[in-house]
Amino acid sequence: MSTTFQLDTSTSRANPTPQPMKRLTVPKIRARKTDGQSGEPLVMLTAYTARQAQLLDEHCDLLLVGDSLGQVIYGLPSTIPVTLDMMANHAAAVVRGSYHAVVVVDMPFGSYEASKEQAFESAARLLKESNAAAVKLEGGEAMAETVAFLSGRGIPVMGHVGLTPQAVNSLGGYGARGRSDAEAEKIVGDAKALDEAGAFAVVVEGVVEPIAIEVTNAISCPTIGIGASAKCDGQVLVTEDMLGMFERVPRFVKRYENIAKTISQTVARYADEVRSRSFPSSDQTYQPKS
Ligand code: KIV
Repeated sequence: MSTTFQLDTSTSRANPTPQPMKRLTVPKIRARKTDGQSGEPLVMLTAYTARQAQLLDEHCDLLLVGDSLGQVIYGLPSTIPVTLDMMANHAAAVVRGSYHAVVVVDMPFGSYEASKEQAFESAARLLKESNAAAVKLEGGEAMAETVAFLSGRGIPVMGHVGLTPQAVNSLGGYGARGRSDAEAEKIVGDAKALDEAGAFAVVVEGVVEPIAIEVTNAISCPTIGIGASAKCDGQVLVTEDMLGMFERVPRFVKRYENIAKTISQTVARYADEVRSRSFPSSDQTYQPKS
């Protein structure tokens, strides 16, 4: 049974009264780049909850339910322990909270690498349980056959090359990729293989700028950069990083706000009022009817 249903916005606490707006589609995203030329850059952010999706949706072309939720939401040390259950539940919440952006859900580590059949089973489960439109998986040439298998069976796939966090144990860390000729050649080859296999877009993460530009010029589908180049066909960031929720973020993150400070100051005011018994006041208490 699908867990997805429309929010009752007339009664819900989260009441953004969304404007009726047709949801974008994967073919429309793919068509933003034609004959090697892209129009307006694609805007993508991560989202993990319904309320977050409601706030981001009208500004974004794509919402990514990233497996970065392992670190951001669950406090895990990496994305490796993230499960299909976690991804399906958060993706369903994001779909419920959005009506405009294409929702893409990350396939977690261990759910797709063994075989194309395993990948289909996992991806189908994610889409059935969440109603998201597409999946994202990490890896290049080694994943091309899987990408073709899924794409040919009705599952749109976004690729992810360069710094691929699920491979942290093989890469030895989260440093930028593409500094050596061999590494650069591999990244370009990986992106081309995914494009030829039918990926509708490719995330290019943590690579030196000339390689991000070379990849963008070399493939027919849009590239979405993160720590890559403004010349990519779109950009993505982890929302909590760009809002300033964390002290430590990668160098490529621009912090547009300092939400952590706002939250801390607000909670300090609440704590003071509770301790001084000035909250709740008469505005927030019920009295018997006279
Ligand atoms: O999991 C994630 O949030 C991602 C983005 C950083 C691209 O894969």
